[in-house]
Amino acid sequence: MHAKYRQKANFMPVETKNIVEEIQGNSTLVDLPTKPNGKKLYLESYGCAMNFSDSEIVASILTKEGFTTTYNPQEADLILINTCSIRDKAEQTVRNKLKEFKGIKRKFNPKMKVGILGCMAERLKTQLLEEEKLVDLIAGPDSYRALPELIQEIESGQKAVNVLLSRDETYADISPVKLGANGVSSFISITRGCDNMCSFCVVPFTRGRERSRDPETIVQEARDLFEMGFREVTLLGQNVDSYRWNISKKGEIKDENKSTVSFAELMVMVAEVDPLLRVRFSTSHPKDMTTDVLHAIKKYKNICNYIHLPVQSGNSEMLKRMNRGYTREWYLNRINAIKTITPECTISTDLIIGFCDETDQEHQDTISLVKEVEFSFAYMYKYSERPKTLAERKFEDNVPEKVKADRLSEIIDIQRKNQKKTNDSFIGHTKEVLIEGPSKKDPNEFCGRISENTMVIFPNQGFKAGQYVNVKIISANSATLKGEAAV
Ligand code: SAH
Ligand code: SF4
Ligand code: F3S
Repeated sequence: MHAKYRQKANFMPVETKNIVEEIQGNSTLVDLPTKPNGKKLYLESYGCAMNFSDSEIVASILTKEGFTTTYNPQEADLILINTCSIRDKAEQTVRNKLKEFKGIKRKFNPKMKVGILGCMAERLKTQLLEEEKLVDLIAGPDSYRALPELIQEIESGQKAVNVLLSRDETYADISPVKLGANGVSSFISITRGCDNMCSFCVVPFTRGRERSRDPETIVQEARDLFEMGFREVTLLGQNVDSYRWNISKKGEIKDENKSTVSFAELMVMVAEVDPLLRVRFSTSHPKDMTTDVLHAIKKYKNICNYIHLPVQSGNSEMLKRMNRGYTREWYLNRINAIKTITPECTISTDLIIGFCDETDQEHQDTISLVKEVEFSFAYMYKYSERPKTLAERKFEDNVPEKVKADRLSEIIDIQRKNQKKTNDSFIGHTKEVLIEGPSKKDPNEFCGRISENTMVIFPNQGFKAGQYVNVKIISANSATLKGEAAV
């Protein structure tokens, strides 16, 4: 018996969702041997790429238990929602989803069980059981190995909770079921957790202490993916630059008999799996990004010319309140290093608008930084206060909602112009595109990304997903490029 899976993965954005689907007739799917237990699992993920990657681990663990997956919650025996807590809105989305599942359970399968995984599970713990009567199971991000036992418990009619955070869980030995998107690009987790304590951020509370995964298992996963036909991997961590193997936080070697691996070295190890395997990474942290990473990008054609470097704010006082560990000048110095060593790199960012006590001048400083750097893309968010964070305890969420909204739309406007300008600069150039599949809008067209991460749409001339094609860029808007294959 074989089960087939696909996961629609979105790259960065939070508050997007993906659903594990059963589909037919796609040659890029992975066949998984299972002994089915007759139970169907519906798994839905919200939040960042790390959550999407974790859902692949969950699917792997439960497939081994005999579950098959379904895209239809109405026929599910078990519904699992992998959740995000980064902003209040992300949590509200999940709560609304639970209302929907309550109706489905009542109507289609009163025996259906519902579990909450991920960051909301970790943040709210048993409180969730009290607030959401529908929920049977709560499992935090480090307790997915315990899912089989937790499921056994709920099947006997109890509620089950495991929210223990670990100092060393990396799921290194579990080969994730590549629910894997389009069969072309995939995520590989390299670190878990975060030790940074930015004052606005809930992640250190939901994901625990930072730990790095054994480099051998990372490279092996990249090799396996390449053999399965994947042509792009994104190395994932909350702060990839702090990846380190066999080196303590203070820089001391832990075991003299073993080699050490830094993030730049890891990237090179993955790049050397095959020149046809593109390597991306996310997220870099401005306080930790070193120039050896830039030299690796410069040296290896298959390490992509793209860096996501979240700045959050353009004002040094504000960055101090955010506890980001760098100033505006430091950030601009990093940008300068990127533009000098790897001038072909595009740079994207994250911005928080309307953080505590944000003055008009501080907002203007963010605008001037956005104008100066000319980011190729930006995720822009209104500040959302999160319980237990430093900001919640120390500062007041005192920028009025209307001011947050006005400042956000002002920045979005400026950023849209930046994107148009970056995209226009590709017009007339021939760029190598890795084909991801048919374009969503028109199946007669293909879509794929250039090394700089911009999406290109071009006519389907009998190419296949996973193929590299040189495309001459003809036109651009602020989001995508259009071109024609240069054959
Ligand atoms: N580790 C990454 C960010 C992970 S969270 C980094 O340090 O860059 C992704 C983004 O969500 C952050 O960069 C930030 O812009 C945004 N974010 C985090 N907490 C937020 C909050 N409380 N309100 C609004 N946006 C937030
Ligand atoms: Fe959150 Fe800061 Fe860690 Fe990123 S680096 S996950 S923003 S605490
Ligand atoms: Fe959300 Fe947790 Fe990721 S809070 S952004 S799913 S680490």
